[in-house]
Amino acid sequence: MHQLKRKAAHTPHRPGRLGLWLNSLPHSKWIFPVYQSRQLYLVENDVTSEKLPRVLHGLKIAYASDIHYGALLDDARVKDLAERLNALEADIILFGGDYGEDAAHTLQMFKKLPPLKAKLAVCGVIGNHDRAEATAQELILAMEKCGITPLVNSTLTLEMDGKKLCICATDDLSHGDPAFREVKEQVLGADYVIFAPHSPDALEAAREEGAGDFYDLALCGHTHGGQVAIFGFAPYTASLYGERYGNMYLSGEIEEDDGAQIIISNGVGTTWMPVRVGAPPQYHLITLRRARPER
Ligand SMILES: [Fe+2]
Repeated sequence: MHQLKRKAAHTPHRPGRLGLWLNSLPHSKWIFPVYQSRQLYLVENDVTSEKLPRVLHGLKIAYASDIHYGALLDDARVKDLAERLNALEADIILFGGDYGEDAAHTLQMFKKLPPLKAKLAVCGVIGNHDRAEATAQELILAMEKCGITPLVNSTLTLEMDGKKLCICATDDLSHGDPAFREVKEQVLGADYVIFAPHSPDALEAAREEGAGDFYDLALCGHTHGGQVAIFGFAPYTASLYGERYGNMYLSGEIEEDDGAQIIISNGVGTTWMPVRVGAPPQYHLITLRRARPER
């Protein structure tokens, strides 16, 4: 438990004038931080758990968060992301939210997104940039129209050989109405639970509400790895709990004291400026493994 105080949420940043100018320069791609912001790297995460049912051993989840479609990320990069996700031939494709730089671009992105192929499910959560200027219902409808199962205070349950895998998320923490206790109740009796809130701040908010102990694996985005991080430290993290918490939950794999595993993605796109240093753009192939599959 972190004895930390939540700050007020700000309306999401759109690209600033400097960011738009930098993005428009014909040769800006030769500036390393700009070049880096336009790359995309696959990260492969193996998650090993004794709790994982045998039937889920080897299950593959393709995860992409923080696309931020708009002035800094165009149609071609959305198409490229969809092709990369499809090429992973995953069982599940999961989006971590912040599809557009604002709600209008999020709704456009859902229309532009090429069809996605996963063996079991394509699902997604909503982030602060999506939610700040749109209702949850608008976003839910748009996601359903493009074939993404929305996880907004809701749970997707997949049953295999009588074992239940639950993937759940709340509404966005900073601009929505997250119902942690409701989501916790939805997953009662599950054999393995993946909680995928947009921001890792939601992990602390859930703990504060006494509902922080219901998941085996948490998948989060939002942080962008700081966008600019020096030796793993980001001067600005956008965490509602301040920079200390923000840097604890900045990027990569974390194991909590209660055994819950957390993966935090740097995300695909950028906000404010088309710049990344020490926080390369990422999408993920997460493979679930049972700790002792031979038993
Ligand atoms: Fe984001």
